[in-house]
Order: sequence, then structure tokens, then C-alpha cells
Amino acid sequence: MLVPVLLAPTPPGMCTALRTINSNLSQRRKYMQHNFPINYTIRVHYEEVFKPSNISRLKLKINNLEMFALQRLWFHVNHGILKKILRVIPERHPSRRYGAELERRFRDAEGIFVQSHPSEAFQRELPEKVQEKLDRMTEHLDNVPETSWRFVPPKQLLDNFQRSMRCLFRECFSQVNPQIDLCGNSRSKKDRKVTQRQPQLPR
Ligand SMILES: *[C@@H]1O[C@H](CO)[C@@H](O)[C@H](O)[C@H]1NC(C)=O
Ligand SMILES: *[C@@H]1O[C@H](CO)[C@@H](O)[C@H](O)[C@H]1NC(C)=O
Ligand SMILES: *[C@@H]1O[C@H](CO)[C@@H](O)[C@H](O)[C@H]1NC(C)=O
Repeated sequence: MLVPVLLAPTPPGMCTALRTINSNLSQRRKYMQHNFPINYTIRVHYEEVFKPSNISRLKLKINNLEMFALQRLWFHVNHGILKKILRVIPERHPSRRYGAELERRFRDAEGIFVQSHPSEAFQRELPEKVQEKLDRMTEHLDNVPETSWRFVPPKQLLDNFQRSMRCLFRECFSQVNPQIDLCGNSRSKKDRKVTQRQPQLPR
């Protein structure tokens, strides 16, 4: 029998953590674009390109998809992204502290997320399509076909991070203007721009 997951409202500590991250993200252009070489990109799995449009698509494809499953996916995706971003920033690079702080705050939020749900909730199977995505992201690098990589500027990864966060944790962000559709996928074509191979980051 399927045990329904308790859909506890997002705990207040979680919202505080996410709102701090949200406000820290307002500086992403400086730290994740201006401090990088022009057109610098990071190699990510295509599943790591995770935007509100992906969320809507998954909701259409999967009946009764729980927010909780999407939130787990969101944490998984963005954990990987922040690690990848940090990995390319040398110790003394001017964006290092910013990247490290974001990652630290993200891990704190993840800790609160995990604590705020019963552990059985995490043992429950995810819908197959969501699980498949997780599996592909954790696949051994050698097994990932060349065509499954995407080259994405770090700032754009954080744009996706922020928009999908506001969509999936909208209770934390909707106070200001409840009319705004936080899952709206309003951005310009620029997001879809195909990115190129990466120039090296100077040491
Ligand atoms: C992130 O937000 C917190 C709380 O507002 C602030 O203290 C901290 O300086 C911010 N960090 C960055 C890098 O913006
Ligand atoms: C950056 O990308 C744009 C658009 O793809 C291109 O027009 C421009 O020449 C690139 N700049 C550099 C320095 O590679
Ligand atoms: C999100 O959609 C893009 C295409 O817009 C796709 O490349 C990417 O794999 C999708 N991500 C996920 C997690 O499904």
C-alpha cells in the first residue's frame, strides 16, 4: 500500500535559508559572470539544466507528481552544480569565497530539508522518470556519451537554480506578490543559446 507522504508545509527555517540564498544570488552576475572569461562555460549533464520549464514538463508527464519528489530532484541537481562551479574556481580567485558561501548555505538548507521530513519519505521510490534522471546524473563519467554533455555559463546555471527554487518552494517566495507565477518560464531566448567549448579560467 502506498503510504502518503506527509505534506508538511515548508518549515520556517527552510524558508529563511532559501531566502538568504535567494538574496545572495542577486550578486551572481558579478561573481559568476564578470569575474570569469567571456563565454566561459562549465560542462554539465543535460539533466543538470533544470529550469521551470522542466518542472512543468515533468508535471505534465507524471500523474500526481509530488512537490516533494521535485524538491528532492532540485536539491540533487543543484548540489552537483554548486560542486562543479566550485571545482573550476581556483583557491585565490575573487569568486571563490562567494561560491563557497553559496555552497555552504545550500548544504545548510539541504540539511533542514532532510530533517523536516520523516526519513521514510526519502526511502520511498521516486517516480520512474525522476529516478531515471537522478541515475543518469550519477552515472560514471566514462559511461556518459559525449552528446549528453551541455556547456553552460555558470551564471546561467545559477539563473536556473534560482528560478526553479522559487517555483518549487513558492511558499517561501510568494508573500511579496502572490499574483506572480513563480513557475513562469518567462525568460528570453538567450537562455536557450547553445554554448560553446570552454576557454580556460586563468589561474
Ligand atoms: C548572503 O546573505 C547574508 C544574509 O543576508 C549576508 O549576511 C551575506 O553577507 C550574504 N553573502 C553574500 C556573498 O552576498
Ligand atoms: C562569445 O559568444 C558570442 C555569442 O556566441 C560570440 O559572438 C562572441 O564572439 C564570443 N566572444 C568571445 C570572446 O569568444
Ligand atoms: C530540461 O529541459 C532541457 C531542454 O529545455 C533539457 O535539455 C534538460 O535535460 C531538461 N532537464 C531535466 C532535468 O529534465
